[in-house]
Amino acid sequence: MLPLQTVAAILLGAAMSFEGWSFTLPNQDPTDTLILVNKTNKAPMVPVALVLPDVKPINERVAGNIYMRPDAAAALEELFDGAAQEGIHLYAVSGYRSYSTQKAIFDRKRRERGERVANLSSAKAGYSEHQTGLAMDFEGESMLGQGLNEAIGESPEGIWVAQNCWKYGFILRYPKGKTKITGYIYEPWHVRYVGKEASQEIHELGDITFEEYILLKRGDRVKYLKGEESSDAEN
Ligand code: DAL
Ligand code: ZN
Repeated sequence: MLPLQTVAAILLGAAMSFEGWSFTLPNQDPTDTLILVNKTNKAPMVPVALVLPDVKPINERVAGNIYMRPDAAAALEELFDGAAQEGIHLYAVSGYRSYSTQKAIFDRKRRERGERVANLSSAKAGYSEHQTGLAMDFEGESMLGQGLNEAIGESPEGIWVAQNCWKYGFILRYPKGKTKITGYIYEPWHVRYVGKEASQEIHELGDITFEEYILLKRGDRVKYLKGEESSDAEN
């Protein structure tokens, strides 16, 4: 038997042998905790049940922007509490986003930083994990108010989350050096709820990307894309 990490690498190699990497999972269940949302897998356009997690937002202005799916919200509370017990204080910045909120974020980024930077750091409306209610951006006490930036990865809170979030059912969705796979720059502040079974497996596989994990688990359902099909054109 090949080690799972090797199998994941082989599958990903197959997916990447087309122009760039790209695959889609047709007919995903919108309630699935393992739903894949990225540049070739759209967030389902269905209403999502949402609750406000009992965690601190970075400020009152964003207090209404941190809704999550109930399962993810409960796990986020455990994550923030677990961190606090070890002297690590986390604050929520951005959870669920509607299509129109995501559009406003992407459009502003494109206006301010140009198309290329926008595409690497922000999802087009319809393609953001934040639209599932399973993702949260956070800041830590040591860099509070400094915005979402790479230095969070070197802060005590960023390091703690990277090392421990899997115990609570989360993964760091956009790891360092994986832009070719995830499509996005390193985002040490963006955690994604996948459930404890998956987060533990992903951790044991060496913190592989969620794309690699999905190929490993659901490769039989994957449809590979090529050429213009794999573009992230808005539609
Ligand atoms: N920053 C992530 C990729 C998003 O916009 O969903
Ligand atoms: Zn995010």
